[in-house]
Amino acid sequence: MISAAQYDNNIDLFPERFRKIIFFTGAGMSAESGIPTYRGEGGVWHQYRWDEYACQEAFEHHPEKVLEFHRIRREKIGECEPHEGHLVIARLEKKYWRLQNIQVITQNIDGLHQRAGTKNVTELHGSIWKYRCDPCQKLFSIQQGESGIDKCPLCKKWVRPHIVWFGDYLDPDILYRVGNEIRRCDLFISVGTSGTVWPAAGFHKLASQSGALCIEINPEETENSGYFRHTFRERAGSSLSKLFGKYI
Ligand code: OAD
Repeated sequence: MISAAQYDNNIDLFPERFRKIIFFTGAGMSAESGIPTYRGEGGVWHQYRWDEYACQEAFEHHPEKVLEFHRIRREKIGECEPHEGHLVIARLEKKYWRLQNIQVITQNIDGLHQRAGTKNVTELHGSIWKYRCDPCQKLFSIQQGESGIDKCPLCKKWVRPHIVWFGDYLDPDILYRVGNEIRRCDLFISVGTSGTVWPAAGFHKLASQSGALCIEINPEETENSGYFRHTFRERAGSSLSKLFGKYI
């Protein structure tokens, strides 16, 4: 494990050295913005039962309750701001834009990477800023400050949050693309994820088997920590600043 004091001497992450850099982020990335993580103390799934709010069965059984839960979450998220870690990634992408080698793959649904200015973001688990109507196969985006919609303007059926809930499959096209990108990356930085939800929980292994330098940023040890070459037991914001602040 590398301590904060050793950052500068031990690790050279100059972005021009890498063909492809992936920041793979989870709920811990957003924690310093004030958005609770899912597991652990104070986590969303400690306060709320996912089978009442975050699965298709719950939505079919009581759509109003599920939509209200997501509306409240979205309003709270809308009050949060990206932190220095989000900004470091956004600035890196801007500064090294000509290299086209920086990409965020996130499990987060909050849109904070985009609000920080990052363009190349893949949302694995969807977005709380989108609804969809499955019968019409239509996607509806809503902006900060808007209250959202309950029913599809076309067929008048309930719309559901465009989020990968428990029991849902990930979009196979996204998964295929992400798999290829991870195989091509030579620097993989996992930030703030417990690595317990599949298939995302296997991404570090794929990166490592493909020869990427793998780094974990997480104040806690995870089940996957052993796979990473470097592990920074620190919060996302300060860690990303220490590792990349000097390059932006
Ligand atoms: P978890 O809640 O499972 O894990 C959050 C991780 O962030 C933990 O390992 C914490 O130690 C770490 N952490 C906490 N504060 C941090 C900080 N300031 N800096 C860095 N790390 C910090 O969240 P995820 O791994 O993202 O799915 O969970 C994966 C998926 O499970 C989520 O996308 C969500 C959930 O069910 C959906 O909503 C579809």
